[in-house]
Amino acid sequence: MGDYYYRRRSPHLLPAAVLALLAVVVVVSSSLPSAAAAGAGRNVITHIKGFEGPLPFHLETGYVEVDEEHGARLFYYFIESERNPAEDPLILWITGGPGCSALSGLLFEIGPLKFDVAGYTEGFPRLVYFEDSWTKVSNVIFLDAPVGTGFSYSREEAGLNVSLTESGRQHHVFLRKWVAEHPEFASNPLYIGGDSYSGYTVPVTAMDIATSSDDEEPPKLNLVGYLVGNAATDDRYDTGGKVPFMHGMGLISDELYEAAKQGCGGDFYVAPDPTNARCASAMMAINMVTFAVNPVHILEPFCGAAVRAGGGSIFQGYGGGARRSMLVRDDVRHPGFFAKQRLGLPVECRDNGYRLSYIWADDPEVREALGILEGSIGSWSRCTMLSHYRHDVTTVIPYHVNLTKAGYRALVYKYVRVS
Ligand SMILES: *[C@@H]1O[C@H](CO)[C@@H](O)[C@H](O)[C@H]1NC(C)=O
Ligand SMILES: *[C@@H]1O[C@H](CO)[C@@H](O)[C@H](O)[C@H]1NC(C)=O
Repeated sequence: MGDYYYRRRSPHLLPAAVLALLAVVVVVSSSLPSAAAAGAGRNVITHIKGFEGPLPFHLETGYVEVDEEHGARLFYYFIESERNPAEDPLILWITGGPGCSALSGLLFEIGPLKFDVAGYTEGFPRLVYFEDSWTKVSNVIFLDAPVGTGFSYSREEAGLNVSLTESGRQHHVFLRKWVAEHPEFASNPLYIGGDSYSGYTVPVTAMDIATSSDDEEPPKLNLVGYLVGNAATDDRYDTGGKVPFMHGMGLISDELYEAAKQGCGGDFYVAPDPTNARCASAMMAINMVTFAVNPVHILEPFCGAAVRAGGGSIFQGYGGGARRSMLVRDDVRHPGFFAKQRLGLPVECRDNGYRLSYIWADDPEVREALGILEGSIGSWSRCTMLSHYRHDVTTVIPYHVNLTKAGYRALVYKYVRVS
């Protein structure tokens, strides 16, 4: 199931459309002094390797412990709104996967930095300022979650054994502790957001906050709503809808679609019965004719699949000996690297930027600036296979129903490339 979601990582968002949305819910006013000036002992980063000069926005990183028993700590990147941090919304952003780093959201989706992929030749990648960032009008906490994702880690392996609902609880704990440490953001309208697999994580997290009792430890969170993009929502519809989608997009013929429908009894949700030769051969034929199609965006070139490689000790330094059983990596040596130049393709390979993120996040200077605890994780992975994670909610439709009935604002959007 996990791999299914990896292959369905959502494409880039359309920042302009979302900025328009955010503009509706915020009040324009003149800039106040940086709210973070209030916080002592915070890891505020003014310069970062790869970016020339001081960062033109307020960046802070840190850990928050969400499971004291096992020492599970979630890592965050916090970027203040460039407009009015004291009043603009506070967004907790969780990238999908499950297991894809918040850095992916920051550098490839809604954040204010991007790699100069087009200008890259070799060596250390260059970062450039990205104008259409959500942080123009909102304070965003990019959270490496669930535990085991990105720079988040657990002292004990048992801390990685969390379910979707338990992770929602941990994100709630994270927010309470984070806001307690940043009381200047306690009254800002709070939104939970994310894309792809976070279509599950976001409503589950919002529900945990919405249904918490008043006698929980302060501070009380000012949850106003949530937003999910290209959202995984319901296992049966999402999985079962792939074959009809491929047919609707003209990727498979009418004949093949009919053969698969009849052979498999019309249900593409359940794994094909291996003894059913008609279904198995139709599905094999579908796989063969679509293997070169980019599974995350059928109109983009497929520059190489993410490959899995073993190794990468997560507990080095703790003597635990436990390993991440599988890592999902973007294969750096794939011949499709810079396929734009090689093949003259009109659209850049999204994966090229992903590959640069590995160079950046594993650099010792970058890690020191971010305050990464030495030995907490091995090499960084954009998307980590969370082998202990349990997907215990098969549909979030009841969550949407209850949250919207309770008056929370919801935005469910789908990215469509318009350029
Ligand atoms: C993970 O936690 C669940 C629920 O507490 C438990 O049933 C399961 O045995 C645990 N798995 C591992 C590998 O410890
Ligand atoms: C939604 O609300 C109904 C009615 O109160 C409740 O029975 C159900 O458990 C709730 N579902 C979720 C996912 O919270």
